[in-house]
Amino acid sequence: MNNFKNTVASDLLSCISELSADISLTKEDILDMFEYPPDSSLGDIAFPCFKLSRILRKAPPIIAKEISESLKSDVISKAEAVNGYLNIFVSNEYLLSNVLFKIEEEKEHYGSDDSGKGKVAVFDYSSPNVAKPFHIGHLGTTIIGHSLKMLHQFQGYDCVGINYLGDWGTQFGKLIVAYNLWGNKEMVEKGGVDELVALYVKFHEEAEKDETLNQRAREEFTKLEHHDETNIALWKWFVEISLTEYKKTYKQLGIEFDSYKGESFYTDKMPAQIEILREKNLLKIDGGASIVDLSEYNMPPCLILKRDGSTLYPTRDIAAAVYRKQAYKFDKCIYVTSAGQSLHFAQWFKVVELMGYDWHDQLVHVPYGTVSINNEKLATRTGNVILLKDLFATAIEKVNEIMDEKNPNLPNKEEVAEAVGVGSVIFYYLYNNRIKDINFVMKDALSFDGNTGPYAQYTYARTSGILDKAKDLNYGSTAPQITTSEEADLLKVLSKFNEAVRGAIRDYEPSIITRYIIDVCSAFNKFYHNCQIVSAEDETVRNTRIRLTSATKTVLGSAFELICLKKTEKI
Ligand code: ARG
Repeated sequence: MNNFKNTVASDLLSCISELSADISLTKEDILDMFEYPPDSSLGDIAFPCFKLSRILRKAPPIIAKEISESLKSDVISKAEAVNGYLNIFVSNEYLLSNVLFKIEEEKEHYGSDDSGKGKVAVFDYSSPNVAKPFHIGHLGTTIIGHSLKMLHQFQGYDCVGINYLGDWGTQFGKLIVAYNLWGNKEMVEKGGVDELVALYVKFHEEAEKDETLNQRAREEFTKLEHHDETNIALWKWFVEISLTEYKKTYKQLGIEFDSYKGESFYTDKMPAQIEILREKNLLKIDGGASIVDLSEYNMPPCLILKRDGSTLYPTRDIAAAVYRKQAYKFDKCIYVTSAGQSLHFAQWFKVVELMGYDWHDQLVHVPYGTVSINNEKLATRTGNVILLKDLFATAIEKVNEIMDEKNPNLPNKEEVAEAVGVGSVIFYYLYNNRIKDINFVMKDALSFDGNTGPYAQYTYARTSGILDKAKDLNYGSTAPQITTSEEADLLKVLSKFNEAVRGAIRDYEPSIITRYIIDVCSAFNKFYHNCQIVSAEDETVRNTRIRLTSATKTVLGSAFELICLKKTEKI
């Protein structure tokens, strides 16, 4: 719709200037004034004439009528004056040449305007804490983060995806103590990350009864910090085991990271930043700890060094940001975490600004709400959590059951069940505004009729099936023609893809794409139910409809990729 609006805005501008020389409107003003009518039967876009009324000293309905009579534009089929609005209808020729032909020409690139060309965007996302569970609280950062990366990539940005692993900190002291007391090699090799988490949980249980364990954990961590060989070897091993496991989940989601530089990577990069903080007189001693006072900005102080001189979460984030700016020369660096960390990010972003780094405003925090399952909130400390891999496994199992019933002979059933199972979780999660708290209800996520992943993937498979049937027909041989409102409506929805992409990037909001996918699916299914496609008698009609199906498949496919949804050729 972007091009359409642009062209109409130019045509309107010339028309209005002819009506009166006193008007100093710009094309941008007109673009801002456009509205979408509540119902497409009223027009594709509407131009309200109320603002013009004072300058022209005429009633809005009269202005609308005058414009409707003199407006000339190649891209509209008609313009009607209704109650002070000019209701504008896009022409079929426009829909064919600017939407259908464009999709056919640009294919997977359709919808992108390359507005990110030449710019670099860094994404810090997923970033689980080693030895702590990779639980459904990480679902948001993982898939919102990846979607934002895909969206930027689609717009031509050079993207760097970083998994800032929580691979450093006192939890390793605890884990080392627990391992030495209750663990052994075979057990961890067999149980993997679950065993590490179990050891970690046991540590907390035992430490409740025996205070000295905490002291021992601190000692082991100090040894690790001083490069004690045994502890370093254990630490490396723990990280490796965890990573192997995380990568299985990433593979299910189709996610690959460009870098796994976690917190440990920055241990030797903090002193230089602490020095700058000191030089700039930003550090204050408060009860022995070093802080940056942020009271002037209505925030609690940002903690830089603990009393014992050890560094903290914000200290590492500052060092990491400086490193990334140097390494990647980013135009933006985007951090996706739960809203619970918003203050942390606001604080250290401020500190980076006070340190004089002029790129501080290129740092973006993208927060999201909490997830509960069947209305139960999750506790991380106790190990009473739902692991991400278990959530996916349950969904896949359920899809398998449905498929055994509905389509037991489907080739590569396992693969499809995984795509649909994982997809259902992603889709359900990304359907709402990210900041909203969501309650996950598996039954709803898996429903084939509703605004769900399975429904979207099923629609995609439907386009595939139709094209398969049409593969021997020479459907490019006739000039296409639009003969029904369903066809026109479908093309109108397809024309809005770029707008959805831009909106999703502007608001850091993948749900705009998820909802857009539903719009495409409903327009396509309406078309499918009301129009014969391969079986249409008239050859021109048949060919047009096959091409519309193919265009829908292209756009849906691109949109799926933007939200980590797998393309299912058959379900
Ligand atoms: N590891 C952290 C956690 O699980 C998230 C890290 C987010 N990124 C960052 N640069 N602080 O809570």
